[in-house]
Amino acid sequence: MRTQVGIIGSGPSGLLLARLLHLQGIDTVILESHSRDYVLGRIRAGVIEQGMADLLREAKAGERMDKEGLIHEGINIAFDDRLERIDFPKHTDGKVVMVYGQTEITYDLMKAHIDEAGGKVYYDTPVIGVEGYDTDSPKIIYEQNGQRQELVCDFVAGCDGYHGVSRKSIPADKISLFERTYPFGWLGILSDVPPVNEELIYANHPRGFALCSMRSHTRSRYYVQCELDDKVENWTDDAFWDELRRRLPPRVADSMKTGPRLEMSIAPLRSFVAEPMRFGRLFLAGDSAHIVPPTGAKGLNLAASDIYYLSRAFIAYYKEKRTDLLDRYSETALRRVWKAIRFSWWYTSLMHKFDDDMMTSRLQIAELDYLVNSDAALTTLSENYVGLPYEKFE
Ligand code: APR
Ligand code: PHB
Repeated sequence: MRTQVGIIGSGPSGLLLARLLHLQGIDTVILESHSRDYVLGRIRAGVIEQGMADLLREAKAGERMDKEGLIHEGINIAFDDRLERIDFPKHTDGKVVMVYGQTEITYDLMKAHIDEAGGKVYYDTPVIGVEGYDTDSPKIIYEQNGQRQELVCDFVAGCDGYHGVSRKSIPADKISLFERTYPFGWLGILSDVPPVNEELIYANHPRGFALCSMRSHTRSRYYVQCELDDKVENWTDDAFWDELRRRLPPRVADSMKTGPRLEMSIAPLRSFVAEPMRFGRLFLAGDSAHIVPPTGAKGLNLAASDIYYLSRAFIAYYKEKRTDLLDRYSETALRRVWKAIRFSWWYTSLMHKFDDDMMTSRLQIAELDYLVNSDAALTTLSENYVGLPYEKFE
């Protein structure tokens, strides 16, 4: 097989890239190790920055998001028996975020790219490795029906997530990895109950962090900080709801509607960056190049900004024979990545319980009290939460 841009992975990064390139007449093939249903079954984040929402509209996959997504103009932070609202438009010149699940985005992209445009996406087709990334015709080696096959490309986009093969195809001395793990995880529940509050609530509590989020007016997504070695099997639905309520202000806890789980899972928290994000004709994008802890919901949005830069670079190459955007991709993408890594690390550090370290928790409360009383600090949080701007190219 041959294509212009070979894409490994059909998560949001791979699908969005394929869709944007297709609309410019650039040929792509996506190879995905799992089935379409498996990819759609993963429950992930649900807060979208304006930049990503605009990119989905540009990809002509934003119609349902604009109909069903919920515009949020702020978040709430609970700490020290207080509940404080942060107003985004007031602190960012009118910016807001959109609540719309990654699962829905993936579904909309699949429908537009595969079902309507006939884009080539091969499921149950694991990639084994990338060869010749430093030549003019790199090859993706993959397996289909037990047979080893090759996809010859002009360029390869490694959109295959944290556990993918594209990053691992690079010799260790050519790549720098930066990593921080955190001594806790998030236990999450998805349930068809109305959200306890119209906007998200992030809670710093002596028992640990909690988050009240949602997917719609009838579907809630809640999290509690848990031990790293905790297991879903240790938690009944009732135990989860009890623990969540304990970590929220009483008037919020009292109005909480509870119900059976649709899904429950535990996620570890990690900050991770691979540098650079370009190796000859292989480009990393999304989770294959970086991971943020989920506090602040930056993971999906960073995947989108990578794809913004990468799609512009490929389009400039094919339409205008320009290579400068390809050459600048890594440094441009990484500038934004590191800022989101910093914000997610800061917000995680501010909101979670670290051992029984009372000094840390007193410092957190002092910082939160400062934050909600300082226009400067509120502006910093709001600017980062709604999403830092994408760099534009001339
Ligand atoms: N061959 C083919 N496909 C692969 C391989 C492989 N060897 N390894 C992994 N994949 C696929 C995975 O099955 C997955 O569907 O690559 C896809 C990567 O998708 P995601 O993990 O969703 O990563 P990405 O598209 O970059 O999206 C980033 O997802 O994990 C969240 O927080 C993250 O929300 C962010 C978003
Ligand atoms: C979610 O809804 O899953 C979510 C929302 C906000 C976060 C993290 C996760 O900061």
